[in-house]
Formats: sequence, structure tokens, C-alpha cells
Amino acid sequence: MMLDRDSGSTYSYVIREAEIRDLDSVIEINMKTLPEHYPRYFWEYHLNTWRNIFLVAEYNGVVVGYMMNRIEHDEGFFTGNIVVRGHVVSIAVLKDYRRRGIGRSLMLEGMRRMKNLHNAQEVILEVRVSNEPAIKLYKTLGFKIVKILPSYYIDGEDAYLMARPL
Ligand SMILES: CC(C)(COP(=O)(O)OP(=O)(O)OC[C@H]1O[C@@H](n2cnc3c(N)ncnc32)[C@H](O)[C@@H]1OP(=O)(O)O)[C@@H](O)C(=O)NCCC(=O)NCCS
Repeated sequence: MMLDRDSGSTYSYVIREAEIRDLDSVIEINMKTLPEHYPRYFWEYHLNTWRNIFLVAEYNGVVVGYMMNRIEHDEGFFTGNIVVRGHVVSIAVLKDYRRRGIGRSLMLEGMRRMKNLHNAQEVILEVRVSNEPAIKLYKTLGFKIVKILPSYYIDGEDAYLMARPL
């Protein structure tokens, strides 16, 4: 149980592995919260391939957030060797449920699982350079900007590539 900052009432949420039946809610949250959308097979592919690191946040029984991840093998940003890398593909929390720690909890649980279940040594993500809330969240979790990806997004905006060791 957590204390709601605004109303003073208690609330609770759980972070759990996503299931196929959650995909409609996850896709709806993505449509409402982010300009980057994907075909259904892309969501299904991530769920079927990396199910134990595809997470949802459930608030009073309703899915209000998700974190979709993948595992890659590439040159590390912190060692120079080829590493197992967790990649945060998409994360979002519905507007009405933000600033309650849900995004942070999704990130912490996702990173814990990348490390413990997949032996990931680092985690990376791309974020719009204008996305201050997300950049703040990632910085408080120890992420550093390791690269700027020019015109990464379809509307021409640059991305920060952010990473941290696990
Ligand atoms: C980014 C996002 C997932 C954060 O979710 P959230 O549940 O609100 O995050 P949390 O409540 O766990 O916030 C954790 C910390 O992140 C930072 N943060 C989050 N939102 C912030 C904001 N609007 N302004 C400044 N800092 C913010 C703060 O440091 C916050 O800690 P605090 O509340 O103790 O100050 C959410 O804003 C979102 O869904 N945005 C739209 C989708 C998106 O941009 N996804 C990321 C794409 S890369």
C-alpha cells in the first residue's frame, strides 16, 4: 500500500509479467501516451520472445502502465567487450497514474530481471531530447547519455541514447 500524495488515501499497484490478454490494454496505453506505435505482431513478438521482461503495472486491477524490453548482444558502452544488453523498447504510464512511482518501479523490476534472468551486463534506451520527465527518471536511476542519435524519430527529433551498467 502507498499513500496518495494528492488525496491522502491509500492505493496499491503491482508490477507483473504481461500476458497475451494484456496486449489490448498495453497497445491502448501506447496509443494514448507516445507518438511511437507498432503493429500488433511487434508487441506479440516481444511478449513471446522475452516474456519474463515484458511487464505491466496494475492499479486496483486495471493495467495502467507497461515496459516492453528485449535482449541484444553488442559492444558494451562500459567494457568495450561484447555484452548481453537489455534494451528498453517502450515504457509508459497513463497520465492519471503518473508521479506515483509506477514508472520507477517498472524500470527497477525490468532491470532486475534483465540482470538476474538474462545475465545482462548493461541496459540501454532511446529517449526524445525534449522528454524531460523520462530523462529525469532515467538519470535518477543512474543512466548516462552515451550518444546523440540525430533525427532518430520520424518527425526529425534527435534521441539521446542512454545507458547504465547492471
Ligand atoms: C516517463 C514516465 C514513464 C514516468 O512514469 P511515472 O510513473 O510518472 O514515473 P515515477 O512516478 O516513477 O517518477 C519517478 C521519478 O522520475 C522523475 N519524473 C517523472 N515524471 C516527471 C516530471 N513530469 N517532471 C520531472 N520529473 C519527473 C522524478 O524524478 C520522479 O521522482 P519523484 O516523483 O520522486 O520526483 C511517464 O511520464 C510516461 O508514461 N510518459 C509518457 C511516455 C514516455 O515518455 N515514455 C518514455 C519514452 S522513452
